[in-house]
Amino acid sequence: MNRPYKCAPLPFMGQKRYFLNDFTQILEMVSGEIDTVVDLFGGSGLLSHTAKRVLPECRVVYNDFDHYCRRLSAIVQTNEILRVIKDRLTGVEPNQQLTWQQRADVLAIVEDYEQRDGYVDVLTIGRNVLFSGKWATCMEDLRKHSMYNRVRLGAYECEGYLDGLEVVHMDYRDLFERERGNSRALFVLDPPYLTTECGMYENYWRLTDYLNVLSLLKGTKYIYFTSDKSQIVELCQWLAGEYREAAPMWGATVRTRTNTLNHQTKFNDMMITRL
Ligand SMILES: C[S@@+](CC[C@H](N)C(=O)[O-])C[C@H]1O[C@@H](n2cnc3c(N)ncnc32)[C@H](O)[C@@H]1O
Repeated sequence: MNRPYKCAPLPFMGQKRYFLNDFTQILEMVSGEIDTVVDLFGGSGLLSHTAKRVLPECRVVYNDFDHYCRRLSAIVQTNEILRVIKDRLTGVEPNQQLTWQQRADVLAIVEDYEQRDGYVDVLTIGRNVLFSGKWATCMEDLRKHSMYNRVRLGAYECEGYLDGLEVVHMDYRDLFERERGNSRALFVLDPPYLTTECGMYENYWRLTDYLNVLSLLKGTKYIYFTSDKSQIVELCQWLAGEYREAAPMWGATVRTRTNTLNHQTKFNDMMITRL
C-alpha cells in the first residue's frame, strides 16, 4: 500500500484531517475487538481511508453520499483543466484578481470540458480560482464570483486512496439498518454541522435530523464527531443529567480540539467515543 493520506486528495469542506491522530489511537485501541468500520457520513472518505490503513483486516464501509468518488475518477481531467487555465494565466501574479477577460476565458475553458465530457469537478476548479473560503458546487455558482489566480503548482493525486474500501452511496439510516445486527461493528458518525452558517451542505440539517442520529447511538460502538457550535454536546449533557444511563451519550469519552477562525472566533471540535 502507498503512504496513508493525511488529508483528502481533493478539496472537501469538513474533512476530519485534524482528528486523524486521535482517530487512529481509538482504532488501535479496538483492534481485535471489531471486524467492521461503518463510516455512515463518509464525505471525502478520509476517515474510511485511515481506518483501512490502521485496521487492514477489518471490512471498512465508506458511505459516499456526495459521490466524491466521481470527483476522484475525474482527477486526470481536473489536472488537465488546471494546466490549461494556468497556461492561460501566464504572467498573472499568484493571488492576483483576474480581469473580466481572463475570468471569461477561464469559464470558457471549463465550459468546453463540461460540454465535451459531460462532467467537470467544478468544486476543485473553484478552489483554484476563487477567493480563499469560497466554494462553488456547480457552474452557475462559479459564474457568480470574482476570480483570482490561485491555481496550485502540482497535480492532484489519489492513487490507492480507495484501496480496500467497500464504497456505497446510501442514506445513513439505510446503511445503519443494514449493519446494525453486527455487534463487532464500529460506527463512525460525522453528520453535517448544525449551524446556520453558510457552507456546502450544512444548511438543510435540522435539530430533528440530529436527534435521529443520536437515537442510533444506543447500544452501538461509535465514534461521533461534533462541535460546540452545534450545542449537541450541551443537549447530551443535559439528557445525561436527567436520564442517566438512558441518555444517548452516557459513558462516552470526549476529546476536544480548539479551532481558531480569527482573533475573536474560536470553536471546539469534538470526537466522542463509546467502545
Ligand atoms: C461533516 S461531513 C463528513 C466529513 C467526513 N468525515 C470527512 O472526513 O471527509 C458530513 C457528510 O454527510 C453527508 N450527508 C448528508 N446527509 C446525509 C445522509 N442522509 N446520509 C448520509 N450522508 C449524508 C454530507 O453530504 C457530508 O458529506
